[in-house]
This record gives sequence, C-alpha cells and structure tokens, in this order.
Amino acid sequence: MVIDRSDIQGNVLRAYGNSYPCTAYVFVGISDVGGGRAWLDETADLVSSDEEWRGEKPHSHRNVAVTCAGLHALGIPQDLIGTFSDEFRQGMAARSVMLGDLGPSACERWDSGLGTGAAHVLVILNARAKDEVEAELASLRDEIAHASGVAIVHEQYAELLRPPPGDPAAPPREQFGFSDGAAQPAIAGVSESAAPGGGVPLASGAWRALAVGEFVLGYPDEDTLVDPQKRLPSAPADPLGRSGTYVVYRKLRQDVALFRRTLRDAAARFSSGDEELLAAKVVGRWRNGTPLVTSPDRPDPRFTATAPGSNDFRYLDVDVAGRRCPLGAHIRRSNPRDALGWPGLDEAGLLSFRHRIIRRGVPYGPPLPAGVLEDDGVDRGLVFVCFNASISRQFESVQLQWLNDGNGFHLGYDSDFLLGSPLGTGKMTVQGDPPFMLGPQGPFVTTRGGEYMFMPGIAALRALARGIET
Ligand code: HEM
Repeated sequence: MVIDRSDIQGNVLRAYGNSYPCTAYVFVGISDVGGGRAWLDETADLVSSDEEWRGEKPHSHRNVAVTCAGLHALGIPQDLIGTFSDEFRQGMAARSVMLGDLGPSACERWDSGLGTGAAHVLVILNARAKDEVEAELASLRDEIAHASGVAIVHEQYAELLRPPPGDPAAPPREQFGFSDGAAQPAIAGVSESAAPGGGVPLASGAWRALAVGEFVLGYPDEDTLVDPQKRLPSAPADPLGRSGTYVVYRKLRQDVALFRRTLRDAAARFSSGDEELLAAKVVGRWRNGTPLVTSPDRPDPRFTATAPGSNDFRYLDVDVAGRRCPLGAHIRRSNPRDALGWPGLDEAGLLSFRHRIIRRGVPYGPPLPAGVLEDDGVDRGLVFVCFNASISRQFESVQLQWLNDGNGFHLGYDSDFLLGSPLGTGKMTVQGDPPFMLGPQGPFVTTRGGEYMFMPGIAALRALARGIET
C-alpha cells in the first residue's frame, strides 16, 4: 500500500513530537464566504504535509482543520456536508452530555468560542521554541486582521512540560506528573516497528500493525481488509474523501492539587502506604512510563518509552485478574489490548484494536510546583487532541464505553479514576488481597471546551478553499 504522504497533513501519522514542543491552537470564525475562502487559500500554501522535509528541519509547522459549522461558513454544498459522519455534523457540544461533560464540565460553561458554532477553522502552529510560535502567531493574527470576514474566536497556547531537573532526556510528562504519549498505534507502512504492543495482538503471540485507513480516510481500514464490501459511512464524498482524518479537540483542565491530596490521603489507608504505587495503579504505569504489567513492584529506572519492545505487553497472559495493573487503570481501560477476551479476528465485539486513536495532546499552563497540595488558581491541563477515521467507533467508544463506564471490565459504575468524576462521586477498585477501594474520586479533570473537526488532505483543503460545485 503506497501512502501519499504529500497529501496527508503533518503530525497525523508521524508526530512532530519533542522537536516541536510549543503549540498554538487558533480557532477562526468566518462571516463572509468569499473572504473566508480567500484567506484559507493563502493559508493552504503554508500547510505542512507528512512528507519528509528535505534538508534542514523547518522552524515551525502550520496545520488546518474545519468544523462542520466551518463547512457551512465556507459555502460547501449541503449534499456534500451530508456525507460526513453524523457525530461530526452534530458537533461535540451536542454530544457533550453523552460524553459525560456534566456539572462543571457542562458545555454551557465552556471557554468562550468553543462549542457554540462560532469556531469554523482551527489553525495549529507548532514550533521549536516559544518565541518562534509567537512570531508565527503574530503573522497569523496579521493575516486575519487584513482578511475580510475572518476573525479569531478562541486561542490556546500549549507546551510540553520540561523534564525534571537532572534528567533532561526524560520523556515529556503531563500535569499529574506521568510520562505521556508514548503508547501509540502502530500503522502499516508507517510505524511497523512499533507493532509489538501498538498493533493487533495475534493468536501466535505476535502483533501486526494496523491498517492506515483506521486513521486516514480513503485508505483500506481493518474492516475492508476482511470484507471489501463493508465500509462504515464516515468518509466524506470526493473531492474531500482522500487523505483526511477526523480530529477531536478537548481542553481538559487538571486539578493537580486535588489529585495529589487524594493520593496522599488514600495512601495512608493503603496496606503498603506506598503513594507512588497507588499513583501507578491509577494509570497502569509508573511515572516514568514503566508498565505495571511488566514491572509490578517498582519502576525500571532505565525504562525508555521509545525503546523497541517497551510497549510490548498484554494483560491475559500474566495479569488476568488485575493484580499487577488494575482492571480499571487508565491504560487498561483506554486500550484493553487482549484484556476483553480472545484477541483473534473472530469476536468482532471484543476487537479493541478497532478503537485505537492517535493521540497528539499537549499540556497547557505551568506545572504546579512539586509538593504543593493547595490549588493556586492557575489554569493548567491537557489540550487533548486525537486523530481517527471514525469519531464514534474510536474516540467516543473509548470515552463512553471504557473510560466513563465500568461495565466492559466488570466494574459496575466505576469510571476512570484518573479523569475523575465531574460530580465528585465514585471510586476505583485496586485488585489485591484484600482489594483496596481508592476514593473519593473528585473532579480531577474538567472539560473546558471542545470541537469535532475534519482535517482535510492537502488537495481537499485547496478544494474547500476554492469552492466545490456538486
Ligand atoms: C487529562 C486527561 C488525561 C491524562 C492526564 C492522561 C494521561 C495518560 C497517561 C499518563 C498515559 C500513559 C502513557 C502512555 O501510554 O502514553 C495515557 C495513555 C493513554 N490515554 Fe490518556 N490521559 C488523559 C485523557 C485521555 C482521554 C480523554 C483518552 C481517550 C478518550 C485517553 C486515551 C489514552 C490512550 C488510548 C492511552 C494509551 C494506552 C495504551 O495504548 O496502552 N486519555 N494517558
């Protein structure tokens, strides 16, 4: 399968990663079709593709996605818009109650410009340093100021957190203090070497990489590999159907002080009193990324998330009962690998690999200083961004069925402890003799806003900017 990298936007299949730690997300509203198209057409010239850059690494990258309201604002014909998936057309705010955005996470309380229909185009700027992203941002603001019928409705800056002092090579961490982002799906033709742990677990014990169509539209996915007649109706019609992907954007505020206090107080009741072990049980990995399944008693200080084989583990062979990695740990819920049953191709209902997402989130806000247990009122968290070919089958399934609900794991109402409970109720069961009930589950993570978007291929972006007749 030849993948046309020059038509797929950058950062989708291969991460910009640590080379570009600074990101600005700029949501733009369009009030005039002609002005909006003209601006988008100029912007399309600056968009990075997935193609290898020749020679020196660029200082920065620009990428673009559109909301469904944005398709309308750009004057895309209704019958073409009708070929996009239902969930994209409805938008995240309309589905927010189903996603669990209740109480403080309710869409009525979201940051201004998100979830209201005002956000039409998202421009993502990635750069090597903050001053470089600021220079890009200044030039984008200037372009928009000089365009007609185009205005910025929301901006968000995000930046990878610096490694802890004395360990400059440590992987980036999210605000709660865990290494994040290393476990990604392995994709055929792109990241085959990551197949062990990142691909499809085979009965032989081996793994194979996933079909690229699970993430990029217009290519065969895992369904069409089995039955070419079978196709989920999530890809829009031509000329937009090729090389695009659906984007989920969620600004997730993290209450780090509350999370720390909860762990500290619970550790006082935990049999070993070991707060770090309890923290690892919540995620399923120690803070440096060492998986509990392979290293249940202590983190491996030499663990490198990017080293070959570091993500190569399953649950059923050594940990069916969750004694090492709890059944409700964040990574076991968000990617159960083989934990839900036989991993072969026969039991379609249990195929976890049909629910994979490419995560490209970046933390925002300054970290809460080590040891601080009271909230300082500063807004910090994770700009959660993921790419998938079907928002309902992939992102929403993970969020709704696995993170928000315990049924699939025989855990009743227990939801993912790391993400907390917006209403401040709930607990996590840490399997053991006797099992430990971790609680109370506070609102550790609050949704501050979000959008469902479509990131078109480069040719499709041009078509959007130039107008499509049907
Ligand atoms: C503030 C919110 C969140 C935090 C702090 C967080 C943190 C983490 C951490 C520390 C890991 C382990 C490191 C790694 O595997 O890369 C992880 C893995 C993962 N998370 Fe999250 N996460 C958050 C929200 C979400 C959401 C909303 C989803 C999906 C709806 C999600 C899906 C995943 C997936 C799929 C993995 C990889 C699991 C694997 O392949 O083993 N996370 N997350």
